[in-house]
Amino acid sequence: MRHFTNVHDIGPLDQAIKEALQIKSDRYAFSDLGRNKTLLMIFFNNSLRTRLSTQKAAMNLGMNVIVLDVNQGAWKLETERGVIMDGDKSEHLLEAIPVMGCYCDMIGVRSFAGLKDKKYDYEETVLNQFIKYSGKPVFSMEAATRHPLQSFADLITIEEYKTKERPKVVLSWAPHPKALPQAVPNSFAEWMNQTDYDFVITHPHGYELDPQFVGNAKVEYDQDKAFEGADFIYAKNWSAYADPNYGQVINTDRAWTVDSRKMALTDNAYFMHCLPVRRNMIVTDEVIESPRSIVIPEAANREISAQTVIKRILSELVD
Ligand code: CP
Repeated sequence: MRHFTNVHDIGPLDQAIKEALQIKSDRYAFSDLGRNKTLLMIFFNNSLRTRLSTQKAAMNLGMNVIVLDVNQGAWKLETERGVIMDGDKSEHLLEAIPVMGCYCDMIGVRSFAGLKDKKYDYEETVLNQFIKYSGKPVFSMEAATRHPLQSFADLITIEEYKTKERPKVVLSWAPHPKALPQAVPNSFAEWMNQTDYDFVITHPHGYELDPQFVGNAKVEYDQDKAFEGADFIYAKNWSAYADPNYGQVINTDRAWTVDSRKMALTDNAYFMHCLPVRRNMIVTDEVIESPRSIVIPEAANREISAQTVIKRILSELVD
């Protein structure tokens, strides 16, 4: 694997899950693989889990790690071509990227959707510039349209906790005060559609996701109905995808907050969320603190998904 930006880059999921669980059982088994290799992690946006878990994963493999927060201490970067750079941006991404590539063996990039220009976001302009101009393998640490390391960790978690061969997994929109990208739900749907799970997406009218990610999922606008018999509830907020409301909050209806009454409709489902989560907007205290909440093991699996991906990239590096 050269680059990792979506589910298709990782190949058969059963093999990826097997490899991930082997890594989890002995995460230092390949601690020489990354010796004298450097991972550069570039953050255009904030992070807690991705930053810590990916760095830990690289360290488990013996790598050196450099972390750059682009908006804290680096030159302010211009990302558009053709701009007359007479403002506050001192450096263009098209010089910065190949320079960054000089100092490392692979690059992890976090660059969220701006939610202003759907075409710019959905073409994955920033991530693809890193792939094109860095000369190094690149993996996504959440880009404009997908969060594949999160989705891989989610899949590992479901595989660990499922008690049925074909569990019912429900992705539920939940309210949030700010406009959030569609990357996590897009990506979760993309990965779930590669499994044979019974996969359902529920959201209010107006929050339809890009059909390329919805795929064969069942879309149910009645949240209670969607929750009936579910084995896993995956809550997440996202802003509108459909025009003319792209990137906007069109509803903060707290009737969609995941609470104990709704969880009682399920088949004793596990509660999942990628975190960070706004309590009593997305999910009540009672549900997230319940024994059926698996948000912490889910976050712990971020180290495993990252280590599996970095190990595969390292394995194909040409010295
Ligand atoms: N879930 C996730 O990506 O968390 P961070 O934004 O804290 O990295």
